[in-house]
Amino acid sequence: MSDTSASEQPTQPEGPGLESSDRPAGAPARKIFIKTYGCQMNVYDSARMADVMAPNGYAEVETPEEADFILLNTCHIREKAAEKVYSELGRLRRLKEERAAKGERLMIGVAGCVAQAEGEEMRRRAPAVDLVVGPQTYHRLPEYVARLDNGSPGIVETEFPVEAKFESLPMAEKRKTLARGATAFLTVQEGCDKFCAFCVVPYTRGGEYSRPVTRLLGEAEALAQAGVREVTLLGQNVNAYHGEDDAGRDTTLGGLIRRLAEIPGLERIRYTTSHPRDMDDELIAAHAEVDKLMPYLHLPVQAGSDRILKAMNRKHTAESYLRLIERIRAARPDIAMSGDFIVGFPGETEEDFQATLDLVSEVKYAQAYSFKYSPRPGTPAATEEDQLAEEVKSERLQRLQALLNEQQLAFNRACAGRVMPVLFDRRGRGDAQLVGRSPYLQSVHVDEAPEELFGRLAEVVIDEGHANSLRGRIVEKAVQTA
Ligand code: SAH
Ligand code: SF4
Ligand code: F3S
Repeated sequence: MSDTSASEQPTQPEGPGLESSDRPAGAPARKIFIKTYGCQMNVYDSARMADVMAPNGYAEVETPEEADFILLNTCHIREKAAEKVYSELGRLRRLKEERAAKGERLMIGVAGCVAQAEGEEMRRRAPAVDLVVGPQTYHRLPEYVARLDNGSPGIVETEFPVEAKFESLPMAEKRKTLARGATAFLTVQEGCDKFCAFCVVPYTRGGEYSRPVTRLLGEAEALAQAGVREVTLLGQNVNAYHGEDDAGRDTTLGGLIRRLAEIPGLERIRYTTSHPRDMDDELIAAHAEVDKLMPYLHLPVQAGSDRILKAMNRKHTAESYLRLIERIRAARPDIAMSGDFIVGFPGETEEDFQATLDLVSEVKYAQAYSFKYSPRPGTPAATEEDQLAEEVKSERLQRLQALLNEQQLAFNRACAGRVMPVLFDRRGRGDAQLVGRSPYLQSVHVDEAPEELFGRLAEVVIDEGHANSLRGRIVEKAVQTA
């Protein structure tokens, strides 16, 4: 594992463009290319952006060269995030100039967390950008594009009307871009009120907001009908979810999961990312009682030293985190634990770092993400004086990752010999290879897998556990037809 997480790899929204029947009669066919960076919520948001643009005559394409409108959906969590966006914009400016020389128009938009953080500054530094839109106003994209079409010189929108956004996104049945395979994301909660001292999210995504239960059930039912078997509930603090149900009652994530579990066809439920402080009894009980809830939990702790946790404003201790995991494991003994770690937070001593290693040794993670602390402008920790040297951070990260990798390998190897249900959602390298996910979110490779299992669940006997994946064979008799 490196200091990057899978979730920060640039992810392309999958699949082909939208159907032409979405276009109002007479509207010209235009093409939008959306490039996605950052977390799964950005992946979800990009799909929704494609959804709102489709009825306005925009079909999604797979390369910037084909597009009339290029939209970068950005992430601000890592170092130099903004700089990377500016250099990408430099390349796009040249593309825009080439097009202009041919008499063609290319629109460039920046969405997501860097757009939110940079605002007006973005158009000053990169005048080729026509549109800057924060994560909470993208439902108004068609209106912005219409204004640009009518000669507006450029638009910057970074308000926070999160409620308005979800209400005005197309209804579930219109969400073609969300249901292109056996797995889908579903944003249930957005924003964060916790203000960890290192983190930009409360500034870029705004305060916590939970979507109403009825809307979510409707969206999940539409996904299930479109063939989705596994839904991952998303939120920056997903377990802080407290949406209203149709009777106006407050519903926790545990309650929402129970309602979702009743939807026919939906076989698996996951959720990410959780905060240790919001892991309540109802959610823990759901892990014991709801079969469709997968035995995997991403529960970031960040550090093992209480002094550092306090400086991070995490509002939990190493001990309270460990006791919490004990309770979760009592409810679901085989649960695979995952987490996030930051090494080299300002003022972290070797002793503090050792406490992180001790905590990891005690928890035994199935998988984890770990990062060097990187100062984010505007966050309290960025202006702390006792910043650590880069070499110290790198050296500690290496030691932590060596331990986490060892634990991941041990977890994967211990799966050998077991039979587990795998949901096949990707095609592998070889002709007949299918790749799927185990209940514990491991990638499982199966050679010679029957094609009809694509998009379905099947029982697999695990032969080998490797550093990052498992390998197995289909258990012939147990092939499910769902
Ligand atoms: N809401 C989630 C985390 C969202 S950010 C939570 O509270 O757990 C994803 C991860 O990025 C964080 O868990 C943290 O480990 C890492 N991260 C955030 N800001 C960072 C920074 N300034 N430097 C290094 N890592 C950071
Ligand atoms: Fe960031 Fe902390 Fe909020 Fe997570 S809980 S999004 S790390 S401020
Ligand atoms: Fe990045 Fe914003 Fe997600 S900063 S991690 S895209 S919430």
